Amino acid sequence: MKNFNGKLILIGLMGAGKTTLGRQMAQRLDYRFYDSDHEIAAAAGVPIPTIFEMEGEQGFRSRETAILKKLVILPHIVLSTGGGAVLKEENRALIRKSGTVVYLHAPPETLLERTRCDNSRPLLQVADPLAKLRELYAARDPVYRQTADFTVESANCRETVQTLLKRLSR
Ligand code: S3P
Repeated sequence: MKNFNGKLILIGLMGAGKTTLGRQMAQRLDYRFYDSDHEIAAAAGVPIPTIFEMEGEQGFRSRETAILKKLVILPHIVLSTGGGAVLKEENRALIRKSGTVVYLHAPPETLLERTRCDNSRPLLQVADPLAKLRELYAARDPVYRQTADFTVESANCRETVQTLLKRLSR
């Protein structure tokens, strides 16, 4: 694995727990925590679903790339990225060259449980969110694995933090 350079970048599907794990990791490392979705919404002045409504997914993706470019240059950060951040080759190259990339993995059934009561994710506002998550998982799981330096299972957050800290110190 490439040396840990003080930037930890979390990738994975919606509901994997990137934000929760990212906050904990930032606390343990004494780094600053950033969530790309949060920064996109803050810069736009409206929530993510409104960006999708007004500009479509493509508009959101342009904003996502612009925000990622600003965030990855900051020192000592833990960055949680939106689930679709890896879709563009440009983004994948950017995050890979910027820091240590970790895929937080969870199966679609777990992702469904964690996103069930949440209407902040436009892609899951469909009749059958489990089918959608299975489709996204099938398409993206290989991409996350190729992009990440390593994969960790999203289970008990405290254990995942320990596992990650160990991997980073190798
Ligand atoms: C998306 C994931 C979301 C958010 C947007 C699109 C995706 O982020 O960026 O709704 O394409 O998977 P989270 O993974 O943080 O939920």
